[in-house]
Amino acid sequence: MLMLKSHFEVDEQGHLIIGGCDSVELAERFGTPLYVVDEQRVRENYRRFYRAFARRWRDVMVCYAYKANSNLAICKILQSEGAGAEVSSLCELNIARRVGVPGERTVFNGNNKSSAELELAIAEDVLVNVDSLQELHTVDRIASRLGRRARIGFRVNPDISAPTHPYIATGLRESKFGLDVASGQALEAYRMASGMETVEVVGIHCHIGSQILDPAPFEEEAERLMALVAQLKAELDVDIRFLDMGGGLGIPYKPGDVELHPEQLASRVVPIIEREVDEHGLVPPTLAFEPGRYIVGDAGVLLARVGYCKERQGMPGWVAVDAGMNALIRPALYGAYHHIEVANKMTAEPEQVVNVAGPLCESGDFLGKERRLPRVEPGDLLAIFDVGAYGLAMSNQHTAQPRPAMVLVNSGRAEVVRLRETCEDLTRLDRIPGWLT
Ligand SMILES: Cc1ncc(COP(=O)(O)O)c(C=O)c1O
Repeated sequence: MLMLKSHFEVDEQGHLIIGGCDSVELAERFGTPLYVVDEQRVRENYRRFYRAFARRWRDVMVCYAYKANSNLAICKILQSEGAGAEVSSLCELNIARRVGVPGERTVFNGNNKSSAELELAIAEDVLVNVDSLQELHTVDRIASRLGRRARIGFRVNPDISAPTHPYIATGLRESKFGLDVASGQALEAYRMASGMETVEVVGIHCHIGSQILDPAPFEEEAERLMALVAQLKAELDVDIRFLDMGGGLGIPYKPGDVELHPEQLASRVVPIIEREVDEHGLVPPTLAFEPGRYIVGDAGVLLARVGYCKERQGMPGWVAVDAGMNALIRPALYGAYHHIEVANKMTAEPEQVVNVAGPLCESGDFLGKERRLPRVEPGDLLAIFDVGAYGLAMSNQHTAQPRPAMVLVNSGRAEVVRLRETCEDLTRLDRIPGWLT
């Protein structure tokens, strides 16, 4: 079934057009497997998200989640749109610095931040979302040594079940993230921090999970966070000035998935915050979000070349392409669905049901199962959709496969923003010890 989002086109030859570029030409010019990201779409997604909330709340900060795709060019595009950065490693923080996102617009998350990470974050005035009491003590020590006051929030765990894959549901009580709200652990952390001179308590943070298309868990999140914010004011006289609701807004991947529009999300969540602020006489906080997938997910396509096709009696045949779980691990890891089309036969009728496999030595190495496609032949080009988030970012070099290149396209222009790895790159960091030579 053809399921093309509005930013794609098909030309008269039946070729898929991305950002004004013919995908068949891109594959010939840059080789395959190839990630292609549509710059305009990234910008539009960001603006749609930001505006939905900014229309309803005076002070909104959208911190793009670098883990979704931390390519320098992508991060630069978002910096130029005014996005802040959500980072969770030293290198992501470095990338934010390099593309010009200031510390005041960066938030640092993670359940096991190293001292080196905390040191850099505190030195750069990044807001650190502290995940445990032990981490609070580390922050205290480091800030004291640096002679600085660390800006902090706490990642809290409100025990919310989000309808998504268990690996990316992060708000449940048993999850490894955050300080437990129900037992009073979170309140205790705020009490402790509010007595420390080395920290300035400014925020509260939560991220209930990823790929969520239902507004209800976000409403629940807003309710529970605001209840805690009101309690912090009443019991500790702490003003929460930065309310960070994390990321998690999903995108439709499969035919039949119903989009949750940011407008819809904002119209459900903002009134809850407004009501609680008014009711308890709270300081209206900066409303922060950390979307990753929503911003870049549908802007990216993976182009893969068909090598061989194998018939199977009484069951779907196999189409083997040059991108596998090394290039895109989501189907193998989460059973994730990515829509697939034949990029050079977009107008041809589907006439077979096939499985699409990569070149690796595992049966888990597939990109799609039981897909209705036009007749596929060796040399055809497959387009795997919605791979802009957690695609290249989670790619790997299994079976010494160099990671794919990525090109950015915009209005018919295309430029490489990530070089294809080479065999030399794969062994560049390896060493043979002296006793083996
Ligand atoms: C703390 C945090 N913020 C933001 C995100 C981004 O989530 P998404 O890409 O679903 O918007 C994640 C993803 O895992 C996360 O862990």
